[in-house]
Amino acid sequence: MTPPPLRFGLVGTGYWARIAHAPVLASTEGVELAAVWGRNPRAAAELAADFHATPHEDLATFLDAVDGVAFAVPPDVQAPIATRAARAGKHLLLEKPIALSEADGDELVEAAEQNRVASVVFFTLRFQPHMRAWLADVTARDGWLGGVAAWFGSSLLESSPFNTPWRRQKGGALWDLGPHVVSLLWAVLGPVISVTADAGPEDVVHLVLHHQGGPSSVATVTQSGGQGARGFEGYIWGGPGQADVPAPADDPAVPLRIALTELAQKARSGQTGHPCDVRFGRDVGRVLAAARRQLDERAAW
Ligand SMILES: NC(=O)c1ccc[n+]([C@@H]2O[C@H](COP(=O)([O-])OP(=O)(O)OC[C@H]3O[C@@H](n4cnc5c(N)ncnc54)[C@H](OP(=O)(O)O)[C@@H]3O)[C@@H](O)[C@H]2O)c1
Repeated sequence: MTPPPLRFGLVGTGYWARIAHAPVLASTEGVELAAVWGRNPRAAAELAADFHATPHEDLATFLDAVDGVAFAVPPDVQAPIATRAARAGKHLLLEKPIALSEADGDELVEAAEQNRVASVVFFTLRFQPHMRAWLADVTARDGWLGGVAAWFGSSLLESSPFNTPWRRQKGGALWDLGPHVVSLLWAVLGPVISVTADAGPEDVVHLVLHHQGGPSSVATVTQSGGQGARGFEGYIWGGPGQADVPAPADDPAVPLRIALTELAQKARSGQTGHPCDVRFGRDVGRVLAAARRQLDERAAW
């Protein structure tokens, strides 16, 4: 017999909620978009109506109505709500970065572990089928010594729907694109054990990463690439030669549906671990927080 769908609630009613999370939650097998919460009740009512869900003004009532929660709000808003949701026993589809401080990330991990909820962080590249095929291919070979990656984004253009306050004021490319790049280099070259960071103009950040077992990599990220921004580019190199990272796909629906489906499978089977779970999200966040501290120290000279 087919089990009833897992009821998900969506936190956030902005552009990303509308174009990515809501349509995927409403159209993925085994999952139902049951509830929407946002700080703007009118926006929550409109989004909920479009996807046949129930809008909520009260967070406690919203949490009571669902089995899992998906997030499309800024990271420093997501962290405390996700911690509360985990304490209420709700499974978590989190956005990257999971938080903007190590303390918030640690608290969220503790809540998820103590309450044994399943979690998946949407590190987009890690859920794209062609990227997974590439990762499976290169990680089957030993001897990689290093990697080079750059993400030249354009979210800080006035016209971009992603030109949101947290990106401008708190995140910049380090917290916005850094999670994608670090999570990919981590998967291919091994856990990151140290980072050295320096800033360029605008929100440009350069990272030097050391990976467990010896490999090192360098990454540059910016959301100030302007109209000509080329997106993601990268390669790894070493004994097996050089392997270019494939270009990321544009459509968020395919990888988000995979992330949601894998979360639902974990939730149904009572398992909590996933390669991109909240613990991994916290570990990537620690790298970025260490980089942030170094950037702030250099800026204070
Ligand atoms: N994985 C990916 O590829 C990907 C791509 C895009 C975005 N994201 C992630 O999605 C998240 C949101 O993205 P975004 O910045 O582009 O935002 P967005 O889609 O513009 O939405 C922001 C939402 O958060 C709400 N919000 C803002 N401040 C709030 C507060 N203090 N309390 C309650 N709600 C608040 C906004 O409400 P109002 O409408 O009332 O302002 C809006 O509903 C971020 O974590 C970002 O990293 C991930």
